[in-house]
Amino acid sequence: MLATNEIKSLLAEHYDLTPSMEKAEATRDIYAKTKRVISLAEWAVYAPYVIEINRLKKERNAVVLAHNYMTPEIYHGVADFVGDSLQLAIKATEVEEQVIVQCGVHFMAETSKILNPSKTVLIPDMSAGCSLAESITAEGIAEIRAKYPGAPVVSYVNTTAEVKAASDICCTSANAVQIVDAMEGNTVIMTPDQFLAQNVAAQSKKNVVWWAGSCIVHELYKAEDLRAYRESDPDIKIIAHPECTPEVVAEADFTGSTRGIIDWVHEHKPAKVMLVTECSMATNISDELPEVDFAKPCNLCPYMKKITLEKILWSLHTMSEEVVVDPEIASKARLAVQRMIELSKSLNI
Ligand code: 13P
Ligand code: SF4
Repeated sequence: MLATNEIKSLLAEHYDLTPSMEKAEATRDIYAKTKRVISLAEWAVYAPYVIEINRLKKERNAVVLAHNYMTPEIYHGVADFVGDSLQLAIKATEVEEQVIVQCGVHFMAETSKILNPSKTVLIPDMSAGCSLAESITAEGIAEIRAKYPGAPVVSYVNTTAEVKAASDICCTSANAVQIVDAMEGNTVIMTPDQFLAQNVAAQSKKNVVWWAGSCIVHELYKAEDLRAYRESDPDIKIIAHPECTPEVVAEADFTGSTRGIIDWVHEHKPAKVMLVTECSMATNISDELPEVDFAKPCNLCPYMKKITLEKILWSLHTMSEEVVVDPEIASKARLAVQRMIELSKSLNI
């Protein structure tokens, strides 16, 4: 992957990307969705990219699927669809355009390719990984299966295609409890997130056993810090993602997927809320909820933050980097993901 400065100078040979107040004014309708967190002067830097990306998307017959952790200029400026992992996977099955530009991390792009193999799936930075996906291989799945013979393996979508192919079914943070409860037998193996598994175990009727992976963003939150926040501000609502430790989840007023968190804040409109998840969640929904005060701190996902407007434009310009999945692995992985989607739909999730 080229450095951002190199990408910028190569792009400048083809597009006028100099900051422009005129272009900022021309995209005021988009800017209005993010004006609480981005100044107009800053938007003048993004606007030329937003204009070119949206133009090039049409030319290339491309659609941008973006995760809720994308920065606001991507989330509001160039995404055609935004969502959590489950929504993105379902959307990938419905895309009609020939090209999917996945603005998120590699496992999300791989999932889109698995579910819609005739499409060209691009990721603006191939090195946008995930600590969970990196924590387990197909050999790891065989290892844990040998420890619990006959127990079904439920793998989080935050895994590689090889791991999905070696699993019985996938789950996301939106459906994990229901998927585990729907498995046959008393013992269910969950990989690779130990904290998601422990949080599911607390709500499930199954004996849940797990792999010892973790998310480097969510594991940073500490229950004692949240308690200190609540002591200094008793009215604050604390909302956590289930990749946090059970101790953190125990301090939360609500726990859910990134979509679940957004819906909860929309529904309850708390005067003050702390989103115990990735930073962009609060900035993306700030303008939709002017009455809500979003308290910091938050933690950045270094993988998600590799996706930038410069790299999205470069990706569409060069039609790179293309995500390829071995067809044999893809067809096995598809079974695990489709099983999850079908079960989720039948359970109305
Ligand atoms: P969601 O499925 O809740 O969007 O989570 C994906 C993720 O990677 C969170 O860290
Ligand atoms: Fe992976 Fe955690 Fe980043 Fe989500 S926030 S992509 S789980 S490292």
